[in-house]
Amino acid sequence: MTQTETFQLSLAAAEAYESKFVPALFGEWAPLVIEAAGVTTGQEVLDVASGTGVVARAAGERVGATGRVVAVDINEAMLTVARRLSPDVDWRTADACDLPFPDSSFDAVLCQAALMFFPDRTGALREMSRVVRDTGAVAVQVWASLDSQPAYGPFVEVAARHAGPEAVDLLGSYWTMGDVGHLSELFAVAGMRVTATTRHVGTARFASIDELVKIEVESTPLVDRIGDDTYAAILADARHALAEFETPEGNAEVPIVGHIVTGRP
Ligand SMILES: C[S@@+](CC[C@H](N)C(=O)[O-])C[C@H]1O[C@@H](n2cnc3c(N)ncnc32)[C@H](O)[C@@H]1O
Repeated sequence: MTQTETFQLSLAAAEAYESKFVPALFGEWAPLVIEAAGVTTGQEVLDVASGTGVVARAAGERVGATGRVVAVDINEAMLTVARRLSPDVDWRTADACDLPFPDSSFDAVLCQAALMFFPDRTGALREMSRVVRDTGAVAVQVWASLDSQPAYGPFVEVAARHAGPEAVDLLGSYWTMGDVGHLSELFAVAGMRVTATTRHVGTARFASIDELVKIEVESTPLVDRIGDDTYAAILADARHALAEFETPEGNAEVPIVGHIVTGRP
């Protein structure tokens, strides 16, 4: 996989990400990340690589009217959706590797499902450490490695059989920060002390296996990287590869394993 995969979406894909992917998969993780950083009423919180803002919105509820949430992302389409949904959050276009805030600006810095897309991950962690207060916490959520993903392992294998290298690079990129030991080392290099690491098995819920494939394609940059024939071939094979995750009602309930690492400066 290349170092340049940055998960950039069109507005249509960002809308699909928010309306389909967030409720199916990302929403479950936001409260866990907030909890890991110990976010409480009245705090000032930064969400790094916010996407459409699932973590920032949940943080806003936690900090309440006396707190403040700022969120950054590099993708305008994601931020357009985010701004529409939650005008109260201070949404900024910025690179995680160059945060536009003074030192010690926040009580908590959160980053969900995004570290793997930054070209300089240590640099981004260093930035998170710089902008958090000495009394604060940085919580970073990543997916576990593909070899420990009981459903996404077979799914990516299917997709890789049919898709071209660009698509395979993207599908591989999601899982590249899954080694907690390595991530903890990056925290240390970035000047942070790791105070907790947690592993969580989430459940992504889709109306069907077909819907899972549709969301994985149409709510991600994959939609621009595969043609109709490839899409159809992935769909046909995924029905077999993921059959064990189909419920009697025909829904798909798919385990997804992730880690949350919490650090302090
Ligand atoms: C899979 S999405 C996760 C979004 C959100 N945190 C969530 O949990 O739904 C990854 C996000 O990382 C953002 N991103 C990638 N590289 C970035 C960078 N260098 N700086 C800021 N955001 C970046 C993308 O634009 C995208 O919104």
